[in-house]
Amino acid sequence: MTSNYHAVYDGWRKDPAGFWMDQASAIDWFEKPETAFEPDTGAYGRWFPDGVTNTCYNCLDRHVAAGRGDQAAIVHDSPITGSKRTLSYSEMLADVEAFAGALSDRGVARGDRVVIYMPMVPEALVAMLACARLGAVHSVVFGGFAASELASRIEDCQAKLVVSSSCGIEPGRIVAYKPLLDAAIEQSSHKPEAAIILQRDEHRCDMIAGRDFDFHALMQANAGRKVACTPVRATDPLYILYTSGTTGQPKGVVRDNGGHMAALHWSMHAIYGVKPGEVFWAASDIGWVVGHSYIVYAPLLHGNTTIVFEGKPVGTPDAGTFWRVIAEHGVSVLFTAPTAFRAIRKEDPKGSLIADYDMSGFRALFLAGERADPDTIQWAERLLEVPVIDHWWQTETGWTIAGNPMGLGLLPIKHGSPAVPMPGYDVQVIDDAGHPVPAGTLGNIVVKLPLPPGCLPTLWNADARFRDSYLVEFPGYYKTADAGFIDDDGYLFIMARTDDIINVAGHRLSTGGMEEAVSGHPDVAECAVIGIADAMKGQVPAGFIVINSGVDRSDEDVEKEVVKLVRDKIGPVAAFKNVMVVKRLPKTRSGKILRATMQKIADGEGWKMPATIDDPAILDEIGEVLEKRGLKKKEA
Ligand code: COA
Ligand code: AMP
Repeated sequence: MTSNYHAVYDGWRKDPAGFWMDQASAIDWFEKPETAFEPDTGAYGRWFPDGVTNTCYNCLDRHVAAGRGDQAAIVHDSPITGSKRTLSYSEMLADVEAFAGALSDRGVARGDRVVIYMPMVPEALVAMLACARLGAVHSVVFGGFAASELASRIEDCQAKLVVSSSCGIEPGRIVAYKPLLDAAIEQSSHKPEAAIILQRDEHRCDMIAGRDFDFHALMQANAGRKVACTPVRATDPLYILYTSGTTGQPKGVVRDNGGHMAALHWSMHAIYGVKPGEVFWAASDIGWVVGHSYIVYAPLLHGNTTIVFEGKPVGTPDAGTFWRVIAEHGVSVLFTAPTAFRAIRKEDPKGSLIADYDMSGFRALFLAGERADPDTIQWAERLLEVPVIDHWWQTETGWTIAGNPMGLGLLPIKHGSPAVPMPGYDVQVIDDAGHPVPAGTLGNIVVKLPLPPGCLPTLWNADARFRDSYLVEFPGYYKTADAGFIDDDGYLFIMARTDDIINVAGHRLSTGGMEEAVSGHPDVAECAVIGIADAMKGQVPAGFIVINSGVDRSDEDVEKEVVKLVRDKIGPVAAFKNVMVVKRLPKTRSGKILRATMQKIADGEGWKMPATIDDPAILDEIGEVLEKRGLKKKEA
């Protein structure tokens, strides 16, 4: 099949408003928008400003009304607990109405914020959709974050209520969520009025009388209740998703209702190439943007069955788990992070476990969240014998900036490139002064404004931070904070972040945030945290600390405490395990820590002695300490 991509992209370029109005017509509206884009409102304009709709209605009610009620909406497959459960669109609608009733009884209404801190269980999706039904704004917090991260999110969005669970389950350990939630509410100066807690059999928790309510009891009490969808403006917020910024204070990415639905619905058939009724699996977590867009909203908007997988690619119970889920539930398309495939490959290098499963219905693997290394892509291609498609996007955009659209006909795949810009995105590469660079030249990747529907209109309660972070440096463009180049065929190559964000097993983390936590240790005089290459996780953090003079304790003791501090402050997901005491940090004469040079030394990349370095000998010490810990890669 020849690709229709160029015709579609050119069509969008000629008439962006018409293109997006067409996509919006696939959505049900209480009041259809007459205007596609209003340029004079918000930071860079707003999509479908006069449309009125409801996202939950589009995810559930309209499919039930159209005869899809008996189709599976969600398949929960939990190798970690040994349970499996399917909920049809009708069952899901009934559960969401019951939970929406329980929320509204507790005063939750349009515009109120609800924090959801839950593991990968169907009830988490019920809670998200119930918020959407009421026009309330959910903010899901990933379970691997510590209490203080949860507290900063509760506080920033001024959550009226929290929905949580007694526990999450990680291989070999139960993560008690309730003490983390209690500690977070204690730490937050804003106190939610109530918490609704899902008691799981694996670990039940104590409840605080008057504040905590039992999820199951509320569902029973509200069973059969009818709760209408609240009409909301297309531009009203659907959710806030906090993501790492360059400080310890996370950025609250805002997603709207109308543009989000139009873009995600289009992406399901045009990018992922699936038809309504087919089974789609995003092996991620609802705490990340991939989970929001492709476990919850896009598959349900499009009438697909979505898999909610509570497990890991390896160890639950083995590296064949992904193939089992694909075969057992008839998955057509899988979306995950490259790290999942690196983990599978490490356990089962020949991929022999796949032979036990019928993969005949499987059509494509999509990878995102971090750079997809050509080696991993080729291994997956050989094993799966289907297209393996890299695509690039961010929490901020909510869907693909650049990809290879399966539904429009694949373009030739180039390993190491997520291919070409999607309609809606005019992607350019510019130098630091804002001038375009020639093809093949590395530069800042930017998107010409306006951003397409679905992308963030602003940061929660932080319009100025939104402008400063994304719009100010290159006027007229959105700064992606990724660096890379475009080749002669128009293919993008994403090479590095231009800020302090690192990608650990596909999880986005700020080294600046980690430095803030490390500096909190009383014996630490100064520190630097960098991301170093890791064969499985892509990158892992490494911390260098200088201890205050006069501290009379062993380096090992301080290092252990610093590791614990980051785990307690940010969470286990930071995977912060390498800390090294050094005598001094390498700095320029003006006092800037040479983090990029340290990272090059660790990764065995060629590096030049910075002309402005204060004391060159310190870099040798850094190299030696990395070598001693086995963290220094051989120079290529
Ligand atoms: N609740 C509580 N703790 C969690 C958690 C959760 N939801 N998710 C992860 N953690 C903990 C883990 O238990 C681990 O703790 P440990 O230090 O005690 O072992 C730590 O956070 C790091 O977790 P993770 O990054 O998942 O590493 P891992 O070594 O357990 O597993 C992979 C590595 C590659 C198997 C795993 O990262 C993975 O499945 N990745 C798939 C890709 C993915 O989900 N990407 C997300 C964006 S698309
Ligand atoms: P997140 O907001 O967690 O989705 O992380 C977004 C960042 O992850 C991007 O800015 C990139 O740095 C990186 N990223 C995501 N997908 C890709 C990809 N396909 N190739 C390279 N980097 C990617």
